Amino acid sequence: MSDLAIDVRDLQKTYRTPFARRKVEALRGVTFEVQRGHIFGFVGPNGAGKTTTIRTLMGLIRPTGGSATILGQKIPSRAARFKVGFLPESPYFYDYLTVGELLDLAGRLFGVPKDLRKQRADELIVRVGLDRARTQSLKKFSKGMLQRAGLAQALMNDPELVVLDEPMSGLDPIGRKEVRELILSLRDQGKTVFFSTHILSDVEAITDRVAIIARGRLQAHGMPSELVQQTILGTDVMIRIAADAAVTDLTTGADRIRRMGDELSMTLSSDADIDAWITRAQAAGGKVVQIVPRHETLEDLFLRRVEEAQP
Ligand SMILES: Nc1ncnc2c1ncn2[C@@H]1O[C@H](COP(=O)(O)OP(=O)(O)OP(=O)(O)O)[C@@H](O)[C@H]1O
Ligand SMILES: [Mg+2]
Repeated sequence: MSDLAIDVRDLQKTYRTPFARRKVEALRGVTFEVQRGHIFGFVGPNGAGKTTTIRTLMGLIRPTGGSATILGQKIPSRAARFKVGFLPESPYFYDYLTVGELLDLAGRLFGVPKDLRKQRADELIVRVGLDRARTQSLKKFSKGMLQRAGLAQALMNDPELVVLDEPMSGLDPIGRKEVRELILSLRDQGKTVFFSTHILSDVEAITDRVAIIARGRLQAHGMPSELVQQTILGTDVMIRIAADAAVTDLTTGADRIRRMGDELSMTLSSDADIDAWITRAQAAGGKVVQIVPRHETLEDLFLRRVEEAQP
């Protein structure tokens, strides 16, 4: 058995719109691999090629170049697809079903026996927090509830690999946290999770590996902690100082200067003399409350790489 859940080699996809005679190079040679048992975050701005990659892996569209395997099988593979759970980007469900009926249908498509279907559906409805909405039709579901229903249907076949296209979209911060916990619990069960997002904090919090894609090309690929520069970018400082005190002497050369009431915060550049700055702040009547070195975050890296990808 291959230890790779997903192996993508030089994947290319050019969409051709016959009437407009336009070509869109959505994927321009994308290569990455996802180890079994990992949580893999696929990050990129709108139009980067995330959904195109995922739809290709699911066998829904054909690549124009390159190759890929899922669970060791060359795509498109029906056999592999049976062991994969999939949440599409904008899931569409029959309005008049209840969530239980939706899950039963999903289970039937995967050939799950009746008793097991019922048991799994009951468990999953609780797991995604929809137990109080059991009797409602999906027509009455909010966007976040539909997203939860979509997550539950993706798990009905007890998949080895779970592929989620923007699983946090439409969810409030509590819902997003719950989905992060669900993804972590799937890894604890030994499953592989591949998900796309543009919410970087979600990636930073839970992923083993991350790939950043922009304009159809991978811009970075690796462990979140390896990707971000370990160098100190500057120092975040905060002082309390009278709201009307003159502070130009303290803010010269600083970035992200913010003043709210008696709180003044800013980022000093990496070569600033912090001791001298503290002395000046105290002389001006300020009380230093915070000094924190600022490292590059995944968001900084993302913005940097997406910018670099611009033509
Ligand atoms: N069916 C299609 N026909 C033509 N062009 C398409 C088609 N689907 C996607 N594209 C184009 O391919 C590029 C990549 O789109 P894709 O949906 O893969 O991006 P994405 O990263 O999923 O973006 P988002 O974050 O908005 O979901 C975009 O320029 C998009 O306009
Ligand atoms: Mg998309």
